[in-house]
Amino acid sequence: MKLMAGNANLPLARAIASYLETPLTDASVRRFADEEIFIEIHENVRGEDVFIVQSTSFPANDNLMELLIGIDALRRASARRITAVVPYFGYARQDRKPGPRTPISAKLVANLITQAGANRVLSVDLHAGQIQGFFDIPTDNLFAAPVMAADILARHGGKDLMVVSPDVGGVVRARSLAKRLDNAPLAIVDKRRERPGESEVMNIIGEVKGRTCILIDDIVDSGGTLCNAAEALTEAGADSVAAYISHGVLSGGAVARVNKSALTELVITDTILPTEAALQSNRIRVLTIAPLIGEAMRRIADESSVSSLFD
Ligand code: R5P
Repeated sequence: MKLMAGNANLPLARAIASYLETPLTDASVRRFADEEIFIEIHENVRGEDVFIVQSTSFPANDNLMELLIGIDALRRASARRITAVVPYFGYARQDRKPGPRTPISAKLVANLITQAGANRVLSVDLHAGQIQGFFDIPTDNLFAAPVMAADILARHGGKDLMVVSPDVGGVVRARSLAKRLDNAPLAIVDKRRERPGESEVMNIIGEVKGRTCILIDDIVDSGGTLCNAAEALTEAGADSVAAYISHGVLSGGAVARVNKSALTELVITDTILPTEAALQSNRIRVLTIAPLIGEAMRRIADESSVSSLFD
């Protein structure tokens, strides 16, 4: 087994390497003057089972290109099997045509990764389950829920918990977390624009008064969805509102928005390298997902069950 890392999230790659007690493969990524990416692998990978770790997070296009070129280099170096480990799979929100003459970019990216030469894919909390089917190669979709549930029980165990989905689309994810929290009750924030031009109304389905609310989602990007939901829950009488989100995209002024929000805490995982602003915020905490990814990789290499990780 060999482990190669792109530059998107080196601390995560190093943490996975340490979990697996396997050194990172010696490789260099350089840029030509015009910013073209060049990768050179400095050790033999012929016949090896190679995992390349690279999230396609910001800057998404550069990180995606680095992943594709890395896979190509491994394929041409005769690696026996190449697994693209993409903890955060970018472009995932473009998983359907929102209107005529628009792309399905998530499918395009899946095709690119496959055509580059990947034999398998390993990702975490894909934005939509059907993205797994965009790949015609084996694809494992890991869930951060067990890592989150352990942290929630350690921090909030014994409180009157309520798991909340910030939108109707996230109910399945919320229900699965609620199950891991001794079947905690579920609430849903239902956003609706009653009439065109009028501002959105937040209806809360479920009684949150006096509850410790745990918002769960796959992505926090601008932070708008989350902060609005936290405000609506607080107005509805929630005792406190914390959020657990798999992928901390946190673009633009998201960290500042979270810092000023009604959230007591935002907990993200390290699928995406946290920005300096996120690390400095006393409202944001990062949970590592490295042991979960490392364990899944070990099981893939050993040809043993990955799904049993979630039993
Ligand atoms: C939407 O379907 C996703 O699950 C997230 O709710 C969304 O991407 C969050 O975006 P933002 O933080 O910009 O509101």
